[in-house]
Amino acid sequence: MIKLDISKVAPFVSLETINALAPRVAEAQKELEEGSCPGNDFLGWLHLPSSITPEFLAEIKAVAATLRNECDAVVVAGIGGSYLGAKAVIEALSNSFQWLIADGKNPVILFAGNNIGEDYLSELTTYLRGKKFGVINISKSGTTTETALAFRLLKKQCEEQRGKDTARKVIVAITDAKRGAARTCADKEGYKSFIIPDNVGGRFSVLTPVGLLPIAVAGFDIDQLIKGAQEMEQTASAPFAENPAAQYAATRYALYAAGKKIEILANYQPKLHFIAEWWKQLFGESEGKDAKGIYPASVDLTTDLHSMGQWIQDGERSIFETVISVEQPEHELLFPSDDENLDGLNFLAGKRVDEVNKMAELGTQLAHVDGGVPNIRIAIDRLDAYHLGQLIYFFERACGIHCQLLGVNAFNQPGVEAYKKNMFALLGKPGYEAETAAIKARLG
Ligand code: PA5
Repeated sequence: MIKLDISKVAPFVSLETINALAPRVAEAQKELEEGSCPGNDFLGWLHLPSSITPEFLAEIKAVAATLRNECDAVVVAGIGGSYLGAKAVIEALSNSFQWLIADGKNPVILFAGNNIGEDYLSELTTYLRGKKFGVINISKSGTTTETALAFRLLKKQCEEQRGKDTARKVIVAITDAKRGAARTCADKEGYKSFIIPDNVGGRFSVLTPVGLLPIAVAGFDIDQLIKGAQEMEQTASAPFAENPAAQYAATRYALYAAGKKIEILANYQPKLHFIAEWWKQLFGESEGKDAKGIYPASVDLTTDLHSMGQWIQDGERSIFETVISVEQPEHELLFPSDDENLDGLNFLAGKRVDEVNKMAELGTQLAHVDGGVPNIRIAIDRLDAYHLGQLIYFFERACGIHCQLLGVNAFNQPGVEAYKKNMFALLGKPGYEAETAAIKARLG
């Protein structure tokens, strides 16, 4: 089970202050459970893990098996909550050099529809030329421009390369039950499709087919992922003293109230990079509204100690740090001894690389706390599907609670519309004539 250590917050905010928030956290939990909070039509994630049946997982696995059998590469088209969870879990569980290992066992998993870079799309379609590839098209609204653009290109290429009949077998849609262009297209073309439940928003959807299908196609154990999430769902309902998600939410809230406006999520395993990207979206899009919200940032350590380390140690004291620590790496690698000891590293001979990493983590924690940075530590035993399932639900629940404490609707994202409106006006999208005229006048 996840271990949460908030003792290194104490020099900045007392544990009494955090514990005194327990009744408010209980109230927030009650509001989530009773659905009396803002955005209460998006609470489907709350008991999602425990509602997942073996039959449902078997269906996901069957579709994943078809894609694995029929494809050398599978492109996951989606943006925001429609790709970050899958990307995060796949990257965390994959060999660091997976993209160089063509063992023929697993299809290469690629991502598209999360940017509009012409070079990116051009290089992707070039890479896919002549390849047996499939597509998982993910969009809850079914109308997101970035994803729709990529899907149009990929659909055409897949049909041209593989023929319409095979394309129908290797294109899967994950979208709304009724609304949106992705649904219309899936129904018309006869694609296999999965529904994103109405009451689960994008950034809370990794444990729906949105995350589960790509993760299963990549060859990872979705049963274990869900098992971990189910166990955390129970733990996260427990009373404050036994509930790490509740304590993490309360600690963040107390730090924010004490002027710590930026949270830096740090990891000491490069494979966790996209877990931080997923986490940033979850917290950033959920709580950054009404001129409130902790700004979620992230660093990969020790890498970024050589870039951002200076700022963290000595910059404006408005930050706190949350470290995800993995207790046991999957592999064991010992430093060799060297007769000449030219690099002076013989004092490390016989030690595990991880021991050095752990000492770097501890040394950094002490230095940052000395430098005025409160430190929260979240430890997981191993980087496997089961512990990632725990971690995902832990963060989701903590986010839901923290948004209640802040008094914001965790489940909308009104601010995201502003850029879309301008972009459509600039591109002359039908229906945006007035906005087009206004923006042209503004730009002169
Ligand atoms: O969390 C969210 O709701 C958003 O980030 C969405 O996931 C993102 O905008 C993609 O939307 P859609 O799945 O409708 O294409």
